[in-house]
Amino acid sequence: MEKFIIGGGRRLCGEVEISGAKNAAVAILPATVLIDGVCRIENIPSISDVATTLKILKSLGSQVRYINNNTVEIDNSSMRFYTVHHNLARHMRASYYFIGALLGRFGIARVSMPGGCNFGVRPIDQHLKAFTSLGASVSPMENGMIEVTADRLVGNSIYLDIVSVGATVNAILSSVKARGTTIIENAAKEPHIVDLANFLNSAGADIRGAGTDVIKVCGVDTLYSTEYSIIPDQIEAGTYMAAAAATGGDVLIKNVIPKHLEAITAKLQEMGVVIEEFDDAVRVTRPNELIQCNIKTMPHPGFPTDMQPPAAVLLSIADGTSIITESVWDNRFRYIDELRRMGVQVQVDGKVAVIQGVKHLTGAPVKATDLRGGVAMVIAGLCARGVTEVEEIGHIERGYEDIVGKLTGLGADIKRAVVADALIGRAL
Ligand code: EPU
Repeated sequence: MEKFIIGGGRRLCGEVEISGAKNAAVAILPATVLIDGVCRIENIPSISDVATTLKILKSLGSQVRYINNNTVEIDNSSMRFYTVHHNLARHMRASYYFIGALLGRFGIARVSMPGGCNFGVRPIDQHLKAFTSLGASVSPMENGMIEVTADRLVGNSIYLDIVSVGATVNAILSSVKARGTTIIENAAKEPHIVDLANFLNSAGADIRGAGTDVIKVCGVDTLYSTEYSIIPDQIEAGTYMAAAAATGGDVLIKNVIPKHLEAITAKLQEMGVVIEEFDDAVRVTRPNELIQCNIKTMPHPGFPTDMQPPAAVLLSIADGTSIITESVWDNRFRYIDELRRMGVQVQVDGKVAVIQGVKHLTGAPVKATDLRGGVAMVIAGLCARGVTEVEEIGHIERGYEDIVGKLTGLGADIKRAVVADALIGRAL
């Protein structure tokens, strides 16, 4: 077990390169299951969720070849298994994308119910609705597995009752080779949905309307070899924007699509952060004190829920009182208790957090509760007085490539260390 030790109070300055988008990668890699040929995928982030996804692919019979740290070639021509076991599925939410992909390829998928961050109940009823709309049957099995089967998937109209990224991805994956046309209504519009559609279209799929709330998928018989580069990670970019702002720094954040950052940029500007946009970079400076503002998380193009914890840290040192309303997840404030240990003044009532800004935070030992909550603790540690130790960093490494290297490159004092208890445990 490892932890981060952060010496707070250093301004972040310099340049940082953003990696490929986690939530695009964990959809596109399972999508390769549908393709008869070799896929070369570039700009894959080197994070543990990607490693888990590739392990699942290998367990299904995929040939995976790393060209370099961020490029893989995947050949699924000899794939013959359709079961994703608990020991792999439990590590990440997106393991359920293998249901749509395997169903689309074999007409059968057996997948253990997924793991991932704990934000309260995370139902998959809309995913199942998509599969059954196309003619599939869903049966629970033993050991928390579900089996989804179809003799023949047939295009249909799928109306999603809730705007769901995962259900939209699974509806696309299961319909792309179905017979006829599928219309997905009330679809999610996130950039990673567009990226998945672009990837599949580059392999011969016929998907239109991705990025709007109506997506039309005309089924095709075969998908072919392709080469594709994944979009930059908007949340990783937003995280470094928040870290720069929290420390009063001056950071050029490279390899981004500024349009994908609009909601984040707008809120940071409201807080008094100065953001200069370039074609594929943004420069973030914070000349004055941060100013309070209110934030409500929404599906894209609203303010992303995944940026809610980093934004909470900024508001915790802003002048005035701010209100954050979490409207995507039922229970995404679990990390707040840890931040309180660092001096954050906050009241949480259900999906609303009221934050009273303080002059400064104080370093403390904290535990990452989930991926974005964990990175919020890192940002808090960077701007706090004194030393912060963040434990359970495995959550953070699910989604951030080389966070220690990137922050160190910006002048942060952060290092990785083995948790003392783990050393004692080993000695015993
Ligand atoms: N929902 C249902 N039924 C469903 C599916 C979703 O009620 O069948 C509800 C959820 O409980 C939630 C809301 O719909 O209240 C939205 O959930 P969504 O399905 O959009 O979330 P997801 O696909 O499970 C993805 C990201 C999350 C991100 C959300 C929202 C991936 C792998 N994960 O999750 O990312 O928070 O969309 O944008 O793409 C992260 O990266 O840290 C992360 C948690």
